[in-house]
Amino acid sequence: MSQIYASFRSIGAYVPEKILSNADLEKMVDTTDEWILKRTGIKERHIAADDEVTSDMGAKAAALAIERSAIPKEEIDLVICATVTPDYFNMPSTACIISDKLGINNVQAFDISAACSGFVYVLSIAKAFIESGMKKNVLIIGAEKFSSIVDYTDRGTCILFGDGAGAAMISATTKKEEGIIDLHASADGAYADFLVTPAPGTVHPVSQQVLDEGLNFVQMKGNETFKLAVKTLTKDVKEILAKNEIPSEDIPHFIPHQANYRIIKAVGDALKMKEEQVVLTVGKYGNTSAASIPMAINDIWESGRLKTGELMLLDTFGGGLTWASALLPFAGKSK
Ligand code: UT7
Repeated sequence: MSQIYASFRSIGAYVPEKILSNADLEKMVDTTDEWILKRTGIKERHIAADDEVTSDMGAKAAALAIERSAIPKEEIDLVICATVTPDYFNMPSTACIISDKLGINNVQAFDISAACSGFVYVLSIAKAFIESGMKKNVLIIGAEKFSSIVDYTDRGTCILFGDGAGAAMISATTKKEEGIIDLHASADGAYADFLVTPAPGTVHPVSQQVLDEGLNFVQMKGNETFKLAVKTLTKDVKEILAKNEIPSEDIPHFIPHQANYRIIKAVGDALKMKEEQVVLTVGKYGNTSAASIPMAINDIWESGRLKTGELMLLDTFGGGLTWASALLPFAGKSK
């Protein structure tokens, strides 16, 4: 029997309509457009409507990914959603709700929690399911309504995050040149307190105290996270490129997690990447956590920059702490 590989067939994304600009934030917290731009590169971020939930955004992104893959939805046999802002914190999973909204019935569906690394984590799961022969077409989604866990009185976090979703179809192929080349994902729970949403959970079940102390909002040790992000992202990418004997100049699309322009610039410089190799969307979307990488891939696909067969290098870092990188060709059709 010939070897099976997992190929990245299509991309889709959804960006909510409402924009939260730096000028808007100036009216909400003690900050300035100048500070935000200089320290993060973010000009604006999109915020979901009050009645728009994570599965709504995920379903819209996924519908596009399915359509662009030309794979009938009846042939999808697994749906996985990466999110830390699910529709429901316990059950049902957002993947179940998305599947239902799309009319994908009787398939395995579940969520995973790996914060900003979520999309590369689900990619690793899709790869494993496909290469083992268990599944053929895996719909992977990264979707976040981060605004639902952001404290809009905390200037250290509220300027960074936005909402959105991205999705991709990962399918079995026997063509080695179409397959994911390599993927590395890792974690270190010793840094769990760098990025944490304390409640609701078994540590802090819902209570009046949780609400009074705002423990349901994301808390971040920004500067410590920043330094570790630069170090880890750089090391991770250097390792995956060296292991596969691919020089950084051969990567047309370096797609890092979009958390902060300064982090991306520092990593790009350390890898000697030219500006045109580095995909940047943080300025217009902010940090959309698990949706950040697929939204960025969608941007270059929709603008015609991402062509069939071209190499993508994904690199991400987030709460957990978690991090991951992947080296893969785009196996879908160019726009
Ligand atoms: O997606 C998962 C991974 N997440 C990240 O990678 C996020 C990483 N962290 C960051 O992007 C940056 O650390 C921030 C943008 C959050 C903060 O930038 P920084 O350069 O690390 O600033 P800092 O936290 O060291 O704070 C410097 C100063 C402080 O004032 P003092 O103590 O020097 O007087 C802060 O209070 O900047 C102040 N500050 C602000 N000033 C104006 C913090 N936030 C703001 C703000 N506007 N929004």
